[in-house]
Amino acid sequence: MTASMAVVLPPASSSSSCLWLSRASSSASSRLPIIRGFHSLLVPPTTGLLLLPMLQSRTLRLSPTSLKTPPHEYGLVPARRQQLLMCCPRATTVSQEEVSSNPTQRIGAVSFEQLPLKELLLASEAAAKRGAEVVMAAIDKPRNIDYKGKTDLVTDTDRNTELAILEVLRDKFPGHLVLGEEGGVSGDATSEYLWCIDPLDGTTNFAHGYPSFAVSVAVLHRGRPVAASVVEFAGGPFAWVTRTFTASAGGGAFCNGHHIHVSNTDQVERSLLVTGFGYEHDEAWAANIALFKEFTDVSRGVRRLGAAAVDMCHVALGIVEAYWEFRLKPWDMAAGVLIVEEAGGTVTCMDGSPFSVFDRSVLVSNGVLHKKLLEKIQPPTEKLIADGFDFSQWLKPTDYVSDV
Ligand code: IPD
Ligand code: CA
Ligand code: CA
Repeated sequence: MTASMAVVLPPASSSSSCLWLSRASSSASSRLPIIRGFHSLLVPPTTGLLLLPMLQSRTLRLSPTSLKTPPHEYGLVPARRQQLLMCCPRATTVSQEEVSSNPTQRIGAVSFEQLPLKELLLASEAAAKRGAEVVMAAIDKPRNIDYKGKTDLVTDTDRNTELAILEVLRDKFPGHLVLGEEGGVSGDATSEYLWCIDPLDGTTNFAHGYPSFAVSVAVLHRGRPVAASVVEFAGGPFAWVTRTFTASAGGGAFCNGHHIHVSNTDQVERSLLVTGFGYEHDEAWAANIALFKEFTDVSRGVRRLGAAAVDMCHVALGIVEAYWEFRLKPWDMAAGVLIVEEAGGTVTCMDGSPFSVFDRSVLVSNGVLHKKLLEKIQPPTEKLIADGFDFSQWLKPTDYVSDV
């Protein structure tokens, strides 16, 4: 049995203050509730339970890795083991139908007992930081630019950074599979671990010395992100600085070691939004130009920074409310989506369907705004689907064993 843990809360209308911690197996996923709504919840000391509030988190889902000692099956957690519980205002449980049709299901691994998460997280951070050293050494120096397309640049730094990252990962995990933007697929094709590397996300910005680019490294287990690191370059010429975002499934998200959380803004008109446009100027690109206009009209503004991994980390940091884009690649998204989810945000495809890093659209948000944003984003996306635009999964290595 996979030891995923779920906190089961009484309906808001219930007079009972009893909380149950239940053990759920993957075959009994119907017992995993999605909890909406608690601000904080202090259960009488007689029950020995205390739930700590972590506002805005919309889903309560506990993994054994977040527990020092596994709680009893159908038991109560002693107060001293408080560290893991997340709640937000006005709790209601949702029906199983809602759970199964809910697009906000987790994209990160739920239960993870293979390689220690910490080892994967530290490796992703070491690899991303090593890559960042290569980028920093090349910054503000003449660039050697090649073209993958008319406006799709690649520099020597993209390639050199990926090689440096690979060196770190090969040394630690010679048996893992790798998908790098520049080097493609390498390693053991039978591995359940897939490292997704964007050695330089925001190459155009880097080539111009314009801030907002990053090194992005994440590892998937059977298709789901389990650990991720993004080193963001900010500042600009003569003032470059970096900050490092990290996350592991069930372990929270951090920026330079500080726990981070998405914003709690619940109105589109009070939101600062971000989007991006790929190099292919197709129907999806045109549909997003229309969305850009539409959201510019009703929000505090829509930014277009030019580095998907950075954009998602900014959602996780709570400095913008949401980000979306069509046709990103797994290496653009794998780290950012886990960081957003672990910061309490929500990740789906742009039609609202469940997301995987092999999908061709993504919407990440602070969670509370997700539905409102989908009201505008979903219809044009569904129209593209109806018109036959290809939204099938892509860039999944052949034969890669995946649950998504
Ligand atoms: C690009 C950036 C950009 C996004 C493009 C990506 P690259 O990645 O993330 O923000 O709009 O779709 O391809 O090419 O700079 O690694
Ligand atoms: Ca990229
Ligand atoms: Ca890149």
